[in-house]
Amino acid sequence: MEQYKLFIDGKFVDAASGKTFESVDPGTEAPIATIAQAGKADAEAAIAAARKAFNSGVWSGLTPAARMAKIHDFADEVAKQALRLAATECMDSGQIIGLAGFAPLLGIGLLRNLSLAAATKFPWEEEISVSGNAFAPGREFIRREPIGVCVGIIPWNFPMTMAFWKIAPALIMGNTMVLKPASYTSLSALILAEAAKAAGIPDGVINVIAGPGGELGSVLCTHPDVDKIAFTGSTEVGREIMRMASDTVKKVTLELGGKSANIILDDADMELAVEGACFGTFFHQGQICESGTRVLVPSKIYDQFVEKMKKRAEALRIGYQLDPTSHMGPLVSKQQLATVERYIKIGKEEGAKLVTGGKRVEVPGIPGGYYYAPTIFANVKNKMRIAQEEIFGPVVCVIKYDSDEEAVAIANDSIYGLGGGVFSTNQARAERVARGIRTGTMWINNYHIFADYCPFGGYKQSGVGRELGIAGLQEYTVIKRIHVSAIADAKSNMTFQLMSDYKKVDGFAYNCPTMVVAGHGALSSIYKAIVDLGCRKALILTDPGVNKAGLAQKVKNALADFCVGIHDKIPPDPDLAAVDAATAVARELKADCIVSVGGGSVIDTAKGVCVTLKNGGNANDYLNFLVLTEPQTPHIAIPTTSGTGSEVTNVAVLTSHKAGRKLFIVDARIMPNVAILDPVFTLPLPKDITVSTAMDAMTHAIEAMTSTMSNKICDGMALQAIRLINENLPLVVTEGKNEKARLNMQLAATMAGWAFTIAQVGLAHGMAHTVGVLHHVPHGAACGIILPKVMRYNVETSAEKLAQVAHALNVNIANMSEREAALAAADAVEALMIKVGHPMRLRDMGVPQENLAVCAFHAMADTAVIFNGRPVRDPNDVIQLYNQAY
Ligand SMILES: NC(=O)c1ccc[n+]([C@@H]2O[C@H](COP(=O)([O-])OP(=O)(O)OC[C@H]3O[C@@H](n4cnc5c(N)ncnc54)[C@H](O)[C@@H]3O)[C@@H](O)[C@H]2O)c1
Repeated sequence: MEQYKLFIDGKFVDAASGKTFESVDPGTEAPIATIAQAGKADAEAAIAAARKAFNSGVWSGLTPAARMAKIHDFADEVAKQALRLAATECMDSGQIIGLAGFAPLLGIGLLRNLSLAAATKFPWEEEISVSGNAFAPGREFIRREPIGVCVGIIPWNFPMTMAFWKIAPALIMGNTMVLKPASYTSLSALILAEAAKAAGIPDGVINVIAGPGGELGSVLCTHPDVDKIAFTGSTEVGREIMRMASDTVKKVTLELGGKSANIILDDADMELAVEGACFGTFFHQGQICESGTRVLVPSKIYDQFVEKMKKRAEALRIGYQLDPTSHMGPLVSKQQLATVERYIKIGKEEGAKLVTGGKRVEVPGIPGGYYYAPTIFANVKNKMRIAQEEIFGPVVCVIKYDSDEEAVAIANDSIYGLGGGVFSTNQARAERVARGIRTGTMWINNYHIFADYCPFGGYKQSGVGRELGIAGLQEYTVIKRIHVSAIADAKSNMTFQLMSDYKKVDGFAYNCPTMVVAGHGALSSIYKAIVDLGCRKALILTDPGVNKAGLAQKVKNALADFCVGIHDKIPPDPDLAAVDAATAVARELKADCIVSVGGGSVIDTAKGVCVTLKNGGNANDYLNFLVLTEPQTPHIAIPTTSGTGSEVTNVAVLTSHKAGRKLFIVDARIMPNVAILDPVFTLPLPKDITVSTAMDAMTHAIEAMTSTMSNKICDGMALQAIRLINENLPLVVTEGKNEKARLNMQLAATMAGWAFTIAQVGLAHGMAHTVGVLHHVPHGAACGIILPKVMRYNVETSAEKLAQVAHALNVNIANMSEREAALAAADAVEALMIKVGHPMRLRDMGVPQENLAVCAFHAMADTAVIFNGRPVRDPNDVIQLYNQAY
């Protein structure tokens, strides 16, 4: 009789206790080998070896390609032992030789395929390539790393295949392993250990210990040096393993029991379906977790189907497993035989009809063996224990149903969800049924088919996690995120400032990719701009007012043949529906480029359209911060008001009625490619809009300067914008056709836009957005009314900046303190507003006073407020500011 030893740390050793046990051939009940019987000490030694090997990096430190080379050597050693492996597996486990003969070949394929996938396809490292985190910019990437010491605990039904399923992914992904085969069937795993040693897999990387599951399991599943348990076996033991593993919070993957439904539809190919039902249940004596042990058959073909199954079952040849003519061999053990016999009794007591089988079989010439006849129970109700509990033998329950829906409901009425089948000649119908079943694998017109590249695992109490495929490899890794800060400076780290009194961000990056073409006649540059962008089909987006002023037509003329249409339905303060409607038009016309002609409403809508055109879906999908990874649909913006600056900003402000507020797409990728500032587009702008949009630009400039993110470049742009607005706004109000002044206003708006894109805005914007959404106050007008109040509030933190603003507003600050100058800046803004006829009070804009408190709470939740120079923490402050503006 052959003698097998434990494999620990690269050596074949006796058990520390010196104990051995026998393995029995279930087909003859004769002992075939003795095996060293591992105990607690051996399990601990194996874990220690695996830990040491893992920590040394001798295996985990190799590249996936280097590991692949070693795994291929391992596969070659398996090939050398293939015949011995097959014969031993056959005798040890009762698998018929046809099946056991396949096992080494499948294992070699698995080792080769998965190691190649790990070396060439597996996402070991991935960049998270979104535009970046505004608060903590940096490189973000993830690494998948080996988990560490993995324990594999495997069952007796497919000892060699299960050993491969555990060893292959664990080793390929860089882990080390302690494998414990079932005590009935330990031999093939110990032969695989020989192959691994011969292949030069380093000592300790793979360890195999045989012995009683309970004793070894409790050591393996509780030991603090074990990082992961991969178990295949019964649900009952799976629960216990999960419980044990929880003390040290190990990762656990479980492949557990099943009671899978094999659904025969009334249009199935009868011969195929009968074959599938029998193969799905009786193959390998039914000792397969995903067996289709509940065959669901429609009433109208039920009797006929049962009759055909009976015939087929009775034709199956049961014999010694090494006999190549046997279709079925013995059950694995005496205990398993007893379990099957117990369930036959239960089935009869429950009132199911025993159609065939239900008895042991004697094989001529063999005195013993645990042979059992393929057994069919008909008239089974799904509630019966034989239909709910896993028997793990050649016993099938045939259940009647009347509609596809009922079949799906019966299939799902189980604590399990591992496998399942559908037989039908109607592909669509079969797929519909397959989708309805809560299970890990469904076969259509097939059963028991596995592939290295397809994941296998359970729903519900059939398990956790997946084996095989990329999904299976992932289970043997843990994810590490690595953030590398782009700004390694204490005073520029916005997040650290949450715990510091220094509220100013010093470092910055300036990104203003929009090409600006400005001046009289700048419109003519659009023809070349379109071509430079590689586009030919521009859609003009505009609004009715702008269109009526003839401005869209001017652009269409300049575009000549490169214009596919004008869409002029954009409303003021656009909502998501406005973007979706414009996108629909652009899709219809197959536009490859958007030209926006209008104020902030049109340009922001266009930004949203560029995103949805590029990525599909609708605007609501993209109300996000910094998630775009590629350039969007090209966009040329032609501003027609004197102020949003949207033509150069990274934000689109869109109203979500569902959220009841203005929400944003914020991303450098939505900055228009080209902005054309041609004064001809603002000449017809009515006086009130001229004034209110100018005050929007003024607010951008001043809030950019006082924001926590301000910097020298934005301050420079902002101060110049403030100067230009202060000088030119009164001019354009009195002489609307003053081209030079109109152009200066456009330049101011663009500079203010650039300033705030990098430095952000503040509380005045948060408050203006709120009254805009809740009470329809035009954005510019709201900004203007609120801005001076917020400036005074910010004097505490931003006196120096506001004093510079006063200077730019032409206030003589020579004899003033910084604080006096800052307050004078607010007065000067108000004086300018009065001079140009800007509305001065929220009460005149239709805001009810009793709603100011509600507005204050909304405003505090606006993103813009985060950047306000003076921290905004007390809602009473905001209520007070609203009241001052009232
Ligand atoms: N994305 C950004 O950077 C940004 C910045 C500020 C404001 N916004 C958003 O922009 C919107 C406000 O934009 P806006 O203030 O530019 O106003 P707007 O685009 O809503 O236009 C206001 C009105 O002016 C008319 N009009 C515009 N130009 C004209 C012209 N040349 N001749 C005649 N009529 C003309 C329009 O028809 C419209 O009725 C708000 O929704 C605001 O939230 C966005």
